Amino acid sequence: MGIGGRRMRARISGTGMCLPERRVTNKDLEVMMETSDEWIVQRSGIRERRWVSEGETPADLAEVASRTACERAGIDPEELDCIIVPTLSSQYEFPGTSFFLQERFGGTVPCFDLRAQCTGFIYSLSIANALVISGQYQRVLVCGAEVHSTGLDKSTEGRDVTVLFGDGAGAIVVEAAEDDSNPAGILDVTLHAQGKYAKKLWVPWGSALFPERLNADALDERLHFPRMDGRHVFKNAVTRMPEVMAESLDAAGVKKPDIDLFLFHQANLRINEFVANAAEIPAEKVRNNIQRYGNCSAASIPILLSEAHDEGLLEPGKLVCLTGFGSGFSWGSAVVRF
Ligand SMILES: CC(C)(COP(=O)(O)OP(=O)(O)OC[C@H]1O[C@@H](n2cnc3c(N)ncnc32)[C@H](O)[C@@H]1OP(=O)(O)O)[C@@H](O)C(=O)NCCC(=O)NCCS
Repeated sequence: MGIGGRRMRARISGTGMCLPERRVTNKDLEVMMETSDEWIVQRSGIRERRWVSEGETPADLAEVASRTACERAGIDPEELDCIIVPTLSSQYEFPGTSFFLQERFGGTVPCFDLRAQCTGFIYSLSIANALVISGQYQRVLVCGAEVHSTGLDKSTEGRDVTVLFGDGAGAIVVEAAEDDSNPAGILDVTLHAQGKYAKKLWVPWGSALFPERLNADALDERLHFPRMDGRHVFKNAVTRMPEVMAESLDAAGVKKPDIDLFLFHQANLRINEFVANAAEIPAEKVRNNIQRYGNCSAASIPILLSEAHDEGLLEPGKLVCLTGFGSGFSWGSAVVRF
């Protein structure tokens, strides 16, 4: 409960995104490794992705996405009370990317990174919601920012993972909803994790188990590149996503047909088609952008939200369901009224 016994609500008041300029098509990948446009499109739906140019950082992308989200929320970045950056591709080992973003805005507001991989945005939404409804903060920025491209194995050995991932950032502002006549708000966020599958999609590199963290043997064994059991990930994603979506809709007290727009994490177009079929969601209620951007992990859902805003799909009153699955394993779903 909020001040004076009134239940506090938090709403999403602004969205923004930033993609690097550099387009990398499937044909471009054919030059780097043994793969084909046909294989990639058939298995994942991806046609191209954006990769950063030399010197471009996660904080660069995050700053642009965050400034747009603040502008659309009608606030200056200096007015934020807290900054959360979900990411699995931190700019440095430490401190987190959030500190390099916070530096761009000046001041001393708290910031932190959140590590829940491709479900990082949904996890962060849950934390931002809790911070606002508890009354601790009024305005929380969540900015998913990923630069995967510099950490991918671009030889044939790494092709199963490398063709799937892209770079980008997407941001939202979560604010206290003070207007009782406006029902906009985050109605539910439901989260899950299953650490027993942590090594089904992971990067062993830099482990606290290795002497000096990094060593020549680890480099020889190519432990710095992601490893994935693709089929296992696929099977779990198509089971867990409809499950958690149903849980979140129930918790929000909303029926599936009432949802105007379903935005799924962008790991694989086939996964999303599977999930939509299993949950009997009509295709016109689902938006995907993986064809153009690949999997941007924690940035995928906020990029979709920003594009939905640009397309006029987030008008006041619209009900949106967000659902993700990722490494960890981690998964979650949220229901939001705009
Ligand atoms: C990765 C994925 C597309 C692979 O599809 P799949 O049908 O499972 O394919 P397989 O892994 O069985 O590989 C089939 C063949 O294609 C080959 N292959 C793998 N990547 C390839 C690529 N990029 N180009 C061409 N061939 C490739 C494999 O080596 C294998 O060859 P083989 O039969 O001679 O051994 C699929 O498993 C997937 O999308 N999984 C989920 C991944 C995901 O969502 N990750 C992120 C979660 S947040």
